Amino acid sequence: MENFRYSNPTKIAFGKGMISELRDLLPPGGKIMLTYGGGSIKRNGVYNQVMATLSERSVVEFGGIEPNPDYDTCMKAVAEVKAQGIDFLLSVGGGSVLDGTKFIAAASRFEGKDPWSILTEGAVINSAIPVGTVLTLPATGSESNGFAVISRREFKAKRPFGSPHIYPCFAILDPTTTFSLPAMQTANGVADAFIHVIEQYLTFPVNAPLQDRQAEAILLTLVEEGPKVIANPKDYDARANIMWCATVALNGLLACGVPQDWTTHSLGHQLTAICGLDHARTLTIILPAVMEQQRVNKRSKLLQYAERVWGICGEDEDALIDEAIASTVNFFRSLGMPTSLGDCGVAPETCDEVTERFAAPETQLGERGIVGKDQIGQIMALCL
Ligand code: NZQ
Ligand code: ZN
Repeated sequence: MENFRYSNPTKIAFGKGMISELRDLLPPGGKIMLTYGGGSIKRNGVYNQVMATLSERSVVEFGGIEPNPDYDTCMKAVAEVKAQGIDFLLSVGGGSVLDGTKFIAAASRFEGKDPWSILTEGAVINSAIPVGTVLTLPATGSESNGFAVISRREFKAKRPFGSPHIYPCFAILDPTTTFSLPAMQTANGVADAFIHVIEQYLTFPVNAPLQDRQAEAILLTLVEEGPKVIANPKDYDARANIMWCATVALNGLLACGVPQDWTTHSLGHQLTAICGLDHARTLTIILPAVMEQQRVNKRSKLLQYAERVWGICGEDEDALIDEAIASTVNFFRSLGMPTSLGDCGVAPETCDEVTERFAAPETQLGERGIVGKDQIGQIMALCL
């Protein structure tokens, strides 16, 4: 096992009716900005539940944070935060609202010249306005991690950043808030969480059996519970299981002491930036191609994945890997997710556009840092 440091400061309040705990979770006094997206929280009653707990508080609203939150929208909120003297940001919605809010939190206190440098140069963040969240879409794990991903449509760019200062101080996870999710967003969430686990698991063995089994437990649970939430959106137990899976899939625990490979996400962000595909849909297209192109480097873990997650056994190792990749594709398709660029009507030239973004010789993706432009070109060609 590799050395690691681990801490996670986010308090979780999980379950039916837990939005009422906002009263105790919010710090006393000060001015709160409630951030939200395109209005789902007003249609499904979450907004009213939240506002009922804030009746005696000073609250400013900032709505309209779009899926794949845009830099320009966030900067409008930053201006508002500064003008109104906001002390706390309360994000109510999915991962995009929360990621946008994390960026607003950091950019509002940024001491450098241009907050865009947080996303392009990894500019140092020394502090951020505290953030809390009521999460309504289990997928990203953003509710309990120190990462956010921001798009800048003007530049066709989508970039992640991370800082210990942007962990939410609390996350309220009430599975009933997810009953109103459209099937496509539910499926996106299951797939995103599945692939977060894969990116921390499907590398090479480092004798970390606990982390391996934690990862496999989440994968198996998603395979079992995913179809249930698609079939019955109001199945509370299945919704709850998916919600907790998505949180633990990317709260830092699985990554402790093991190598990671975020190739699928790195390429996926470019696809979203170029053609606007939903985050999870880029991943279900790219992951099977990464598994195929990297089958030699990932051989040992692919065989373990075949046996422990899909119950595939036998002598012919190449056939086992083929079957594991096919099972992954079938699972995504059973959720209604695309598994090729053609499924989404994306033009083949897009492959070159994505690959060109990794043309710099220093590109070193993958768990061994050996996935460069040539390998990325091959991966993208397999996505067609
Ligand atoms: O905007 P509203 O009206 O709220 O509608 C949203 C949005 O249209 C809707 N929705 C959310 N909760 C709902 C609901 N509709 C009905 N009922 C509910 N309960 O769903 C749509 C999509 O929401 P969005 O927040 O965009 O989805 P998601 O949570 O999947 O977030 C995706 C973003 O997170 C980033 C992605 O790149 C993408 O930008 N990620 C963030 C990560 C992180 N911070 O750690 C890691 C991930 O890998 C990912 O990159
Ligand atoms: Zn993701």
